[in-house]
Amino acid sequence: MAATRGGLFISFEGADGAGKSSQIARLADALRSSGKTVCVTREPGGSIGAETIRKLLVEGAAERWSPMSEALMMYAARIDHLERTIRPALARGEIVITDRFADSTMAYQGIAGALGEDFVARLHALVVGADNPDLTIILDAPIEVGLARAGRRASAENRFESKGAGYQEKVRQAFLKIARDNPQRCVVIDATPAEEVVFEAVAAAVKKASLSHQ
Ligand code: TMP
Repeated sequence: MAATRGGLFISFEGADGAGKSSQIARLADALRSSGKTVCVTREPGGSIGAETIRKLLVEGAAERWSPMSEALMMYAARIDHLERTIRPALARGEIVITDRFADSTMAYQGIAGALGEDFVARLHALVVGADNPDLTIILDAPIEVGLARAGRRASAENRFESKGAGYQEKVRQAFLKIARDNPQRCVVIDATPAEEVVFEAVAAAVKKASLSHQ
């Protein structure tokens, strides 16, 4: 469970195109309407330094970096993001919603990227320690659905999508394994129905986590 702090820390995870951004926008709107202060952020990125590292990671050819280089850059970005954005916001008592966090490194570089779970777990323990999310929402959809959605976005940021459907399927299965291994923190939500239907499940999971966090 998370380190002692005031706010609530929520991460959204899932393979590319699972619909994280729309669900995060809906959740932030709903929480702000109920008077909460919300910090919406993302990885890789979420601080000035981490956004600079993001460009190196998400642009260019698929084989530009090995899984090891990717994992180390993800953690360089993550610690900057934690120190400069996440920890200060939680200390102010805010609700932090991040579009991806450490489970993405475990899924993309560790399990699907063949770096291995053990290496990523040790890196995580060294760099991040106990600052884990209170709640992780894993949006799950067949990879054809995700890749079609992700492909519709005009962007130079397609390095990971260009790694192909086989890799994306491994990433999907990796997130499901992470959820099975961490049932107290993770909730898997079917992301194939209409946005508003998915959001009902998201809102219910957040309500439950807020109650147990009080
Ligand atoms: P995004 O499209 O959700 O912003 O994420 C950019 C890409 O970076 C996405 O394809 C997943 C990948 N990624 C990793 O491979 N490892 C990580 O630790 C993170 C945070 C993202």
